[in-house]
Amino acid sequence: MTKLLIFAGSTRQNSFNRRLAHATADLARAAGADVTHLELSTLDIPLYNADLEATGTPPDVMRLKDIMDAHPAWIIVSPEYNGSYTGLLKNTIDWASSPVKGHPVWGGRDPFAGKVVGLLSASPGALGGLRSLSHLNPLLQNLQCWICPKQFALGRAGDAFDEQGALKSDAHRHSAQAVVDQVLWASARLHPV
Ligand code: FNR
Repeated sequence: MTKLLIFAGSTRQNSFNRRLAHATADLARAAGADVTHLELSTLDIPLYNADLEATGTPPDVMRLKDIMDAHPAWIIVSPEYNGSYTGLLKNTIDWASSPVKGHPVWGGRDPFAGKVVGLLSASPGALGGLRSLSHLNPLLQNLQCWICPKQFALGRAGDAFDEQGALKSDAHRHSAQAVVDQVLWASARLHPV
C-alpha cells in the first residue's frame, strides 16, 4: 500500500486548497493508498533564517523532515499568490530541504530526492492557481523529485465544493482522480513495497 502524504500551502480556516487536499485524500484512500493529511498550521516553523538554524534546527522542522521521509509519494495543493506559490510553501520547503549539520540522517541528504509528487491548485479565479504550479514544478525538479505530468488547477473554487467539502462536479473529481492515479502508479514502480 502506497504511503501518500498530502498537504496544502494555506493555513486559512476556509482554505479552498485545504478542501481540495481533503477531497483528493478521500479519492486516494478509495484507491487504496495509506494517506496522511499534514496540516501545516500544526507545525511551529519560523521564517527561515540561517542564523536561527545555526543555533539548532527547530523541533517541528525535524518532525516535518521525518514525516516527509516516511512517505515515498506526496501530493501538494498550492494556492496562488501574485502568480506564484505562497510564502508558507516556500518557507516550509526551504526549511525541509536544508541539511542539518552533524545529524546522522539529515546531515547529508534532504527528504525530497526521489519522491513522487503530484500537484494540484485551487483559486477563486478562472485559472485555478495554475501559475503557482508553473513555479512549483522547477523548484521540485531542482530538488530531484519525480513530478507527475498530470496536474489539476481548480478554477472558480468558491463554487466547486458542497457543504461536506466534496467536489460537486464529476469533471473536477475525474481531474483530481487522474493526478492521484498517476502518483500511485509512479510510486508503485519507483518505490515498490
Ligand atoms: C491572491 N489570490 C490570487 N489568486 C489567483 O488566482 N492569482 C493570483 O495571482 C492571486 N494573488 C493573490 C495574492 C495575495 C497576496 C492573496 C492574499 C491572494 C487569491 C487567492 O487565490 C485566494 O485568496 C485563495 O482563496 C487562496 O487560497 P486558500 O487560502 O483559499 O487555499
